[in-house]
Amino acid sequence: MKKILVTGGTGYIGSHTVVELINSGYKIVIADNLTNSKIEVLDRIEKITGIKPQFEKLDISDSKATKAFFETNNDIELVIHFAAYKAVGESVQKPLMYYQNNLNSLMNILTEMSRHNIENLIFSSSCTVYGQPDILPVTEQSPIKKADSPYGNTKQVAEEIISDTIFSNKNLKSIALRYFNPIGAHKSALIGELPIGVPNNLIPFVTQTVAGKREQLSVFGNNYNTEDGTAIRDYIHVVDLAQAHLVATERLLDKNNKLDFETFNIGTGRGNSVLEVINTFEEVTGEKINYKIAPRRLGDIEKVWADTTFANKELGWKAKLSLADALLSAWNWEKTQ
Ligand code: UD1
Repeated sequence: MKKILVTGGTGYIGSHTVVELINSGYKIVIADNLTNSKIEVLDRIEKITGIKPQFEKLDISDSKATKAFFETNNDIELVIHFAAYKAVGESVQKPLMYYQNNLNSLMNILTEMSRHNIENLIFSSSCTVYGQPDILPVTEQSPIKKADSPYGNTKQVAEEIISDTIFSNKNLKSIALRYFNPIGAHKSALIGELPIGVPNNLIPFVTQTVAGKREQLSVFGNNYNTEDGTAIRDYIHVVDLAQAHLVATERLLDKNNKLDFETFNIGTGRGNSVLEVINTFEEVTGEKINYKIAPRRLGDIEKVWADTTFANKELGWKAKLSLADALLSAWNWEKTQ
């Protein structure tokens, strides 16, 4: 059986996806430069699945190293490309670092895929491509607005690069999954989100505050045009998200599937405010979160949640786990840290 290359496979979403793929019998090679993940994740994956995936320490934005990697790994059938920088605020401070890393790595992957006749690519895109949508829930047909950050722009441009490359190479097929807000951890609490330094995202900040690693959570803005004034997102359990990659893999490997480039919203279809997240977390864990209301965070949008009809019908995938499940698993993971 041929292999699936998972770039960024020791990262948060990558590691959960590798577990789902191994559990379904796929053979994996992970390529990761470990700038935002730890090598111990491989042992954790082995503990969960009984199989330690092949690992190569590799910076995919390095074209020579990537070329050499594909030459020695000549049995790859499909690539899932997670490896990228993802901090919105940092991308505003260091735009070139984001364009350099996120776009060069994608172009290197596509170059090597064409060179080695690898036909299938799953790409990690984001709901950030929609900006603040005029109509909610947001569908895949909603307009792509000017990106609010260089990070967001890398996702928009990346989708265009894939689409243009497919137009010129009829052998290539791709599915871009537009993730909403992934949260939570595997039920074993052996893998989860491992933010290095101060977390940017809401859930790791919540769990670290409750664990006593952070003094207080700031709720960024309570004067949005929402019921309780705090911003709304579509929080999806990372295991549901990982399973979407499994379904996308099967779809691409299906020889009857002739569709060349598809995009899917991967969310729950529900929106929750920051205060709802806080209340649900307190209810399911019995813990208290020390928080204050703070000014809005620059670049944040007011509300977004997914219309998942297309993913549900066409992909045959649906998020199964609840916000409560996800928050409890995030807390169980934090307690092991
Ligand atoms: C953003 C991007 C998303 C990207 C992700 C990666 C958008 C719309 N979304 O998600 O594409 O993949 O970053 O990091 O650009 N909040 C607080 N206090 C905190 C942290 C967050 O109140 O300490 C609030 C935010 O204001 C927001 C919500 O919690 O309303 C979620 O924030 P976060 O987890 O950072 O994700 P997004 O900004 O939605």
